[in-house]
Amino acid sequence: MNIKATISSQREMVSGIFLLRLKAPRLAQAAKPGQFVMLKVSHSTDPPLARPFSVAGVEGSDLLILYKVLGKGTKLLSQAPPGWVLRMWGPLGHWYDLGVDNPVLVAGGMGIAPMGFVAQKLKERKIPFGAVYGARTGSELVVSRASQGWELMTDDGSSWRKGLVTDALASRLPIAGGVLTCGPLPMLKAVVRMCEKAGVPCQVSLEAPMACGIGACLGCVMPKAGGGHFKVCQDGPVMNASRIDWERI
Ligand code: FES
Repeated sequence: MNIKATISSQREMVSGIFLLRLKAPRLAQAAKPGQFVMLKVSHSTDPPLARPFSVAGVEGSDLLILYKVLGKGTKLLSQAPPGWVLRMWGPLGHWYDLGVDNPVLVAGGMGIAPMGFVAQKLKERKIPFGAVYGARTGSELVVSRASQGWELMTDDGSSWRKGLVTDALASRLPIAGGVLTCGPLPMLKAVVRMCEKAGVPCQVSLEAPMACGIGACLGCVMPKAGGGHFKVCQDGPVMNASRIDWERI
């Protein structure tokens, strides 16, 4: 659906990372964990394009978006006040299959955005799960009430447990029925390798440059296992790791 959404509030969670709440009742009701929305950040043609944002959760009729300020568009968005109206369309793409026994969630960096929504849904359904979340340094970890029960890691040991998310995953894999993950590409590759070795199915969410979000611009193509390509916006962003050619990505 293509709608106009009003900003309910936004808050800087840690330096440069904002949680945006948008009043969007129908979209909030329809969104599934792993899906994304396209958001037109400014009212003018500068920047001209909409940007993809993972849905980070739903609270009543509000849709939550967690984003990092990386350029002009997100800088503008971070300055938008409550009451500001944005154009958006979605929810788009494939979502995580939550019908997994003993799921383990693995989030790295901004990968916590969709994984937080996965955790919210699992909690609502009273499905027990394990969860690991890591960032390079403590100042990049978005720790909130929602991350209670998560094993928190930092690469540099500046807070929480020092190490990589894969260190924490190792002890959880033997009892995992499936791994659901999102994060930077090197982390995804490492998680997928571990899952392959352990024979545990893995669902990943891929990040790609997206201009349209609906399969029209080909900006988001990625290599498919067995040859050819797929479009992340339509075939993903969530898919089974075995569908991706990790050597060519
Ligand atoms: Fe345009 Fe995927 S974002 S084809």
